[in-house]
Amino acid sequence: MTIAIINGPNLNLLGKREPGIYGQQTFAEYYEQLCQLFPDVTFTHFQSNVEGELVTSLQQAGASVQGIVLNPAAYTHTSVAIGDAVAAIAVPVVEVHISNVHAREDFRKISHVSAKVAGTISGLGMAGYELAVRWLLQRAAAL
Ligand code: DQA
Repeated sequence: MTIAIINGPNLNLLGKREPGIYGQQTFAEYYEQLCQLFPDVTFTHFQSNVEGELVTSLQQAGASVQGIVLNPAAYTHTSVAIGDAVAAIAVPVVEVHISNVHAREDFRKISHVSAKVAGTISGLGMAGYELAVRWLLQRAAAL
């Protein structure tokens, strides 16, 4: 099974960026652990700070992988295009937020993505990615 992890803007700065909110670990470090945890899964990882690149990545993943873990970061709250891209693909998508977006500023409570995804994990730190992968595997096994 191939699972695509797609990360939005500023997530390339994990480890350095607001560590009190997002933690000390870089995504590269976490990604290595995730790959080791699921040796039977083929992972792809794409990060972009550019909205259209994320849309293209979702379209490509939607045609080539069996599950997607998506953290659209700030575009969650603004991007109709990313919400539309998720709605346009048949592959299950899990939305992940490292922080609890509902415990932060009001603008973070709006998501253009949540209504289009299979489910959302928010506030469980980096572990949210692992939990999303576990659910995608369970779902695939139940099919
Ligand atoms: C985030 C939450 C967003 O509100 C924020 O803009 C991010 C990261 C998270 O993972 O907690 O960049 O998606």
